[in-house]
Amino acid sequence: MAGCSMFHSFFLISSLSLCYLYSPEKSYVYAYQIEQETAVKEHHLHSYSIRTSSLLPASACFASAQGPNNSKNRLKILHRNGPCSHLGGGKTKPLPLAAIEILSEDQSRVDFLQSRLSNNSRGSAVRNSEARVPARSGRYLGSGNYVVRVGLGSPRTDLSLIFDTGSDLTWIQCKPCTRYCHKQQDPIFDPTKSSSYSNVTCSADECSQLSSATSSPTGCSASTCIYSIQYGDGSYSVGYFGREMLRLTASSSDIFPNFLFGCGQNNQGLFGNAAGLLGLGRHRLSLVSQTANSYGQVFSYCLPSTSSSTGYLAFGREAISSVSSAIQFTSLLTNSQYPSFYFLELTAISVGGRRLPVSASDFANSGTIIDSGTVITRLPPSVYSALRSAFRQLMSKYRSAEALSILDTCYDLTRYRTIRIPKIGLHFRGDIVLDVHPNGILYSGNVSQVCLAFAGNDDNGDVTILGNKQQQNLKVIYDLAKQRIGFGPGDCN
Ligand SMILES: *[C@@H]1O[C@H](CO)[C@@H](O)[C@H](O)[C@H]1NC(C)=O
Ligand SMILES: *[C@@H]1O[C@H](CO)[C@@H](O)[C@H](O)[C@H]1NC(C)=O
Ligand SMILES: *[C@@H]1O[C@H](CO)[C@@H](O)[C@H](O)[C@H]1NC(C)=O
Ligand SMILES: *[C@@H]1O[C@H](CO)[C@@H](O)[C@H](O)[C@H]1NC(C)=O
Repeated sequence: MAGCSMFHSFFLISSLSLCYLYSPEKSYVYAYQIEQETAVKEHHLHSYSIRTSSLLPASACFASAQGPNNSKNRLKILHRNGPCSHLGGGKTKPLPLAAIEILSEDQSRVDFLQSRLSNNSRGSAVRNSEARVPARSGRYLGSGNYVVRVGLGSPRTDLSLIFDTGSDLTWIQCKPCTRYCHKQQDPIFDPTKSSSYSNVTCSADECSQLSSATSSPTGCSASTCIYSIQYGDGSYSVGYFGREMLRLTASSSDIFPNFLFGCGQNNQGLFGNAAGLLGLGRHRLSLVSQTANSYGQVFSYCLPSTSSSTGYLAFGREAISSVSSAIQFTSLLTNSQYPSFYFLELTAISVGGRRLPVSASDFANSGTIIDSGTVITRLPPSVYSALRSAFRQLMSKYRSAEALSILDTCYDLTRYRTIRIPKIGLHFRGDIVLDVHPNGILYSGNVSQVCLAFAGNDDNGDVTILGNKQQQNLKVIYDLAKQRIGFGPGDCN
């Protein structure tokens, strides 16, 4: 059962039954007996054996995913488009987005992040092209996003919000939707029905902090402070800046009576049927900063590796409660020019146990951010090309397939029930290595188009982005107090 136990450790939930379905005699492990014994050992140490079926999207929500709701200091995370999400609307759940759409939305988000983070000409090209994009699709929020449910107001209204480490202001669609509210699954929040809502006045100190949190101008209407926030594709939210009681969970330690947020009156974009956005950036107005007295600016998450299972977003003590020696920390860096983003230092990449032959300076150009909303990790062009050649070499036995959108290294795996793929390790400052989970190495359109889930930036000056595909099934800890970010093997339940 060697194959099964290996399989087990990587696919705990989904593999349980598989081991009983397939007898060891038929197991894929034996396909390798023809190789030289030592070579096999070496190869196996630095590779994963996975079932091709595990790469394809599931259509049902796993029973385990229907488990606990939000509990103390801990929120359940769902994939925006997955079968476990509330956002589909009961029986009329939308079909999952096609792989190609997901990747094109992902590129929109990256273009927008690059336009905020880089000084190169592409940044301004993106800004100029915004005016020409007619559809306000809410694409900035991407498609690989995750949602959590929180309670707002007194009495409380439960709302599904997209959580985003790449922005700061939390905003929620509010009645009367003076100009426009996009379609959302939950009832729209009505501040007039809540006894704990109040407007922030234009003269308040909080109002003057807004423009740096949103990178957009602030307004004033009948002495009420007006926020506006714009995203890369022309989608935006504008409304009253207010204070309200936020209930992250039912526990009294997770209630924040005067939480500052945007009460959106004009919300243009699809935003995936979510009621708004939870801003987890580093600005003073972010959720992380506003709850600092309770949680000490510490949070963690585990992003589920399939859209049919769930993960969690935890705060404070709960976020670091299970920190074991298996968690490795790297320095959280601050870039004074871009204070909202979480920077870290990527120093090397290994593929199949060997470091790519690129110099540290190739990584250094514009720094690296970790982002919850970008799907595919974006690398400097020279680094990506080295990764690609190493990966292609180790995957040469598989038939190659056409490129899938931004992914240019694809395979046709129709003939295989199991495949063996090289491990990929991301090395960070402090000599730590994040071993990407097998589900974070490949991205599949379908079994005849399964691709390496990394892409190159256009320009060496573009920022490197650690995307959520490569963070899946890991515990990721943001410890702002100690200026560090930790990675460890995750159990998302
Ligand atoms: C979780 O929440 C849902 C809806 O709010 C409720 O119907 C269900 O009973 C809850 N489950 C548990 C285990 O508390
Ligand atoms: C962007 O421009 C500013 C000022 O011109 C400069 O200080 C900064 O280093 C530049 N940033 C990058 C990433 O090139
Ligand atoms: C908040 O301000 C707006 C605009 O001035 C006003 O219409 C609304 O009634 C105010 N809400 C509360 C609860 O004061
Ligand atoms: C899926 O498979 C078909 C061929 O069977 C192919 O034409 C198509 O482009 C593939 N990719 C996606 C993303 O659907």
